[in-house]
Amino acid sequence: MATVKNASVFYFSGTGNTWWVAEEICRHLNDEGFDSRAYSIENISAVKVASLIEESSLVGFGYPIHGSDLPQLMKEFMEALPQYPGKDALVFCTQWLWSGDGAYLGASMLKEKGFAVKWGQHFLMPNNVSVSVIRLPYTNNPDRLSAVRQRATRKVKRLVSRIAAGKPYRHGFNPLACLLGSLQRVPYRRYYHRLQNDIAINREFCIDCGECVRLCPVGNLYYAGEEIKTKGNCILCTRCYNFCPVAAVTYMNRPHRPERGEPYRGPIENFNPSILINAF
Ligand SMILES: Cc1cc2nc3c(=O)[nH]c(=O)nc-3n(C[C@H](O)[C@H](O)[C@H](O)COP(=O)(O)O)c2cc1C
Repeated sequence: MATVKNASVFYFSGTGNTWWVAEEICRHLNDEGFDSRAYSIENISAVKVASLIEESSLVGFGYPIHGSDLPQLMKEFMEALPQYPGKDALVFCTQWLWSGDGAYLGASMLKEKGFAVKWGQHFLMPNNVSVSVIRLPYTNNPDRLSAVRQRATRKVKRLVSRIAAGKPYRHGFNPLACLLGSLQRVPYRRYYHRLQNDIAINREFCIDCGECVRLCPVGNLYYAGEEIKTKGNCILCTRCYNFCPVAAVTYMNRPHRPERGEPYRGPIENFNPSILINAF
């Protein structure tokens, strides 16, 4: 009788794209006979992580690309891991357009923890930057989201069939990708700390629902009496900005422009961002 292989996939997702890919990977791994499950790193204890990794023959790590870099929360999660010599690992990132070496970067951190990173992949997902300061195109159109998901599913299937066959595959693990990635990462890291205090609440529109405070993955937003203030430790995930029901969150003092439609609301229709914090 074939033995069932356990897999645990740990992910951080600001606005749902990486959650969706992590779930899709697990769904296809399970079709291939794995017993796998995806876990948000926002709500999980180090003890639980350790026991899941111990019992898994494959460990996955997924994150969105921020300026060809890993989100701070995922970096901290990886840095806190103990050593797992020879444990098979998969690293994937989601990005709108391009990251160069987005998966390699996480893989190199995991290598220091002893992981054997045999699989690395990049998934193109919708852009989640919908702030008025940088006018990047984004969409909530269900047909376009569906097309993006279908393309990602095809890539997931190819990746999972390689995993099931035990064939290593690592995308973007080469010097050119690293060089190109660093062209974006170096300035991003340089300005990151200056950008961490740019979220604010527009009291004129705010309906005091507290959703931004509840959803923030790092407690950057908090109530000071009746007022919502920020601690200046934003990790730029855009969750509060994108999911405020009345678009009352400002970035660099600029409110969301109503003519742009709602901010990006996640990879599926009626996506509920609470699952990113209550996933486990
Ligand atoms: C601060 C920030 C920086 C980003 N930088 C890049 C980038 O360098 N390249 C890219 O293709 N997408 C970039 N994106 C887009 C996201 O990586 C992409 O939309 C991702 O799928 C979001 O995943 P999530 O919904 O799981 O947070 C950036 C997004 C944010 C918020």
